[in-house]
Amino acid sequence: MTDMRFPEGFLWGTATAAFQIEGGSASRGPSIWDTFCATPGKVYGGHTGDVAADHLRLWREDVRLMAELGLGAYRFSVSWPRVLAGGIGFYDQLVDELLSHGITPCVTLYHWDLPQELEAAGGWPDRETAYAFASYAAQVAEVLGDRVELWTTLNEPWCSAFLGYASGVHAPGRTSPADSLRAAHHLNLAHGMAAAALPARSRVGIALNPSAVRPLTPSAADADAARRIDALANRIFTGPLLHGAYPPDLLADTAAVTDWSFVRPGDEALIHQPLDFLGVNYYTPAVVSAAPDGNGPRADGHGGTAHSPWPAADTVAFHQPPGERTDMGWSIDPSGLYDLLMRFTREAPGLPLLVTENGAAYAPDVHDPLRIAYLEAHLATIHRALADGAPVEGYFLWSLLDNFEWSYGYSKRFGIVHVDYETQVRTPRSSARWYARLAREGAF
Ligand code: FCB
Repeated sequence: MTDMRFPEGFLWGTATAAFQIEGGSASRGPSIWDTFCATPGKVYGGHTGDVAADHLRLWREDVRLMAELGLGAYRFSVSWPRVLAGGIGFYDQLVDELLSHGITPCVTLYHWDLPQELEAAGGWPDRETAYAFASYAAQVAEVLGDRVELWTTLNEPWCSAFLGYASGVHAPGRTSPADSLRAAHHLNLAHGMAAAALPARSRVGIALNPSAVRPLTPSAADADAARRIDALANRIFTGPLLHGAYPPDLLADTAAVTDWSFVRPGDEALIHQPLDFLGVNYYTPAVVSAAPDGNGPRADGHGGTAHSPWPAADTVAFHQPPGERTDMGWSIDPSGLYDLLMRFTREAPGLPLLVTENGAAYAPDVHDPLRIAYLEAHLATIHRALADGAPVEGYFLWSLLDNFEWSYGYSKRFGIVHVDYETQVRTPRSSARWYARLAREGAF
């Protein structure tokens, strides 16, 4: 035991998402990810979410597993297409089961599985999708709101907007820079409208994947590249969320792509709802430089593609930092998490922070010392941020189970519990034992 002791009441949880674990695709309508999986060449091995980790069938066993590991919280997402198909009862039961084991539920309303019919009607570039999300949020709150206190509206809206509508490596696989910026705004709007629709006793947040963006060199040109990416990755969300306005430099940088006339008077104020916490998902930092010849981006960690996820940023190049990497090829550098936690502590004084995702993909082995080392390094960083005044209230490890890793299909394993996809047998890895001890003792 070292001196890494965490505060009393710190939440120790794991995170999952509906499409990645549930399966049970026959009892809900299709989402954009079903369509994407069915499109040749989009997802590794043609893998689908039809069965996934079969959680829709095995959920009681999965909750029991969390209870056995002594985990105090669980972040899961509600499938919008399942709710549309009348399947909200599943989440109602899941919440009861969690609570009966003393596990605090944290509900994510949207983890990327847009109902296909809404994409057909225009998807996130269309303002109507935000209104549809607000009424879906109200419907979920109606059923779960008496027992669920912790809510995140959206998971990583950056990925939904820019991987979904600009680079096209995520569903729905569109490649329009202008549409991706419209999508980002309507996701922000959807957050604001949903936050306003949740019951007053809820604690409402959003799970962003802020980029810890660093210039390759101290040159003014590289600093400007970092500023541009910071605007597109971070301030496009935190601007309206925390300060009620889009940053002027973002609007100027992207002026050739869009005039932003889709932002209507009052929208930014609507997005600027009171937040009860900010969720931070963190895996790896980003290193950028100026590429005056216009040959960026590359090696940005979001899949090789001819289309950039960064609108109007072809003068920025991305670099793979030296050092160790996980099985995703993402470099391991916990200092990015420290920088982000301290940044939000300064930027939004007093706003509680939750690390809503952090974890690593490694080989399928049940003995996983590399994952433990990754987790230790990142938790030591969180401990340091706490000591330096960051109001971090909890940690959700990604992920409880091996699952469908989006365009990588089942080829990447993030679970602290191994899943045999043939038999659906769950086997806790060494990291699960390690994490259980941390949750029990509050220290490592
Ligand atoms: C995040 C996603 C999550 C998972 C991890 C590895 O971007 O929110 O669903 O895929 O990455």
